[in-house]
Amino acid sequence: MSLSPATETPRLADTRVPIVDALARRWSPRSFDADAVITDAQLDALLEAARWAPSASNHQPRRFIVARRGTAAFSSIVSALVGFNAAWADRASALIVGVAETSTVDGDKRPYAEYDLGAAIAHLSVQAESEGLVTHQMAGVEWDRIIAAFELTENLKPLTVTAVGTLADAADLPAALAEREAAPRTRLPLEEIVLLRA
Ligand SMILES: Cc1cc2nc3c(=O)[nH]c(=O)nc-3n(C[C@H](O)[C@H](O)[C@H](O)COP(=O)(O)O)c2cc1C
Repeated sequence: MSLSPATETPRLADTRVPIVDALARRWSPRSFDADAVITDAQLDALLEAARWAPSASNHQPRRFIVARRGTAAFSSIVSALVGFNAAWADRASALIVGVAETSTVDGDKRPYAEYDLGAAIAHLSVQAESEGLVTHQMAGVEWDRIIAAFELTENLKPLTVTAVGTLADAADLPAALAEREAAPRTRLPLEEIVLLRA
């Protein structure tokens, strides 16, 4: 039996036992309010949350390119998104490119850089949920364009773009996308993802 009030909204995670509220509520919408502005304080909170994520040897090899809607940097990021993502992500209040620093300028390898970046974005997305914001991560990006636009050196590997903003009515989306907003949120059962539980 589900203990979470999943029937309250179909977007809420249907968890076997209760989990932290912001984790249960976080989801990845495509309906963003094209007029909503993210404040400096909100952006600061998101980036602080990312900064305080755990990190292998505490090397913290995660870097971020943060662009608000209306800036040249934002337009550059949108133009690098694949069509399916560009169709909705241009309404986000900000787009954040997550970059893994795979080695230092001195050539020291950072083999856990991608893992570190993922942990940081997870923190960021939960902080956003707590701030009343929504996030949607994307890998559907033409990375060569991002690398060129922001002159990223070889040791800086962009991996995701995260749209951040305010939830809008799904009815404003093209029909095919609006439909996906209401699709049930599913996960593999614990029995499948836990290989051993002793
Ligand atoms: C690394 C990564 C890449 C993703 N890429 C895309 C993408 O390019 N376009 C998209 O619409 N969603 C993308 N997503 C969102 C996932 O589809 C979404 O997280 C998943 O369906 C689970 O839904 P939920 O976040 O609402 O729980 C991506 C998510 C992650 C973590």
